[in-house]
Amino acid sequence: MRNISLIIGIFAVSLIASNMSAAGGAACGNYLSEDGLTKGECDKAYVDATDKSSLQRGAQIYMNYCLGCHSLKYARYKKVSEDLEIPLDMFEDNLIFGDQKMGDLIQVGMDPKEAKEWFGNTPPDLTLEAGLRGPDWVYTYLKSFYIDESRPLGVNNKVYENVGMPHVLVDLQGTPQSVCRQVPFVADNGGIRQDPLTGERLTQEQCGFLEVEAGTGELNPEEFDEAMLDLTNFLAYMTDPMKTERESIGTYTLLYLFIFTMLSYLLYREFKKDLH
Ligand code: HEC
Repeated sequence: MRNISLIIGIFAVSLIASNMSAAGGAACGNYLSEDGLTKGECDKAYVDATDKSSLQRGAQIYMNYCLGCHSLKYARYKKVSEDLEIPLDMFEDNLIFGDQKMGDLIQVGMDPKEAKEWFGNTPPDLTLEAGLRGPDWVYTYLKSFYIDESRPLGVNNKVYENVGMPHVLVDLQGTPQSVCRQVPFVADNGGIRQDPLTGERLTQEQCGFLEVEAGTGELNPEEFDEAMLDLTNFLAYMTDPMKTERESIGTYTLLYLFIFTMLSYLLYREFKKDLH
């Protein structure tokens, strides 16, 4: 029996280890959390490779707003349409532009040299981006553009300071500004400071919050966050398109090994009986 628990133990440890190695992700520059308490920490993007409708919405945003500059050159339209369960003809009619074909790799028409001239930097291929930076980074980056007249394109980004990318989603999001707010004065012990005489709560000014001017975008802030999550989910799927298939194969494999181990053990017991 000791053998069996050892085997099960090794399985469990290797499962936990494989989950841990998937974590990680870079810090988020000057991004200030909604409550103003943490700076440089990314918002969490709860990506879910099995949520097909989220992936479909993400793909739609990508093809319309990102593909003009960023290729996904390790992927083919056809595979994406099959994985995301978008019917081929619907995909072809709505999500492929120019003379590209379903079997093609997802390329952009733009000349990288020209792009460098326009934006100062070449827009990188994004097939592996969410693996490189982590989904949390990508999600927070997409939400962190703000108006900054001192920059050549008039926008900056809290996560990626002095970025060369324009705010391409300004129609959806509206006009984001970096603003100052009065926030509670937090004492060193974590409590909120009060005026010793009046008992009034003390506040202090803190700058760097992102705020969208009301009514300037097609989406409200919650809808925009949701859309960015879909887009991030799509990019996360891109880095690992086999994830859901692999995971279900993995589960069956482990189940098979487990049952097989049990059967071997029973057989071993039978044999052992004969020996005595
Ligand atoms: C008009 C061209 C253009 C469009 C459209 C565009 N980008 Fe970019 N993007 C750029 C450029 C240029 C950079 C490089 C910026 C730099 O390094 O300064 C960039 C950088 C990025 C990066 C950071 C890459 C890195 O790790 O350094 C991400 C992520 C990104 N873009 C995502 C998107 C997404 C998602 C969309 C669609 C919503 C999009 N971009 C649309 C031009 C564009």
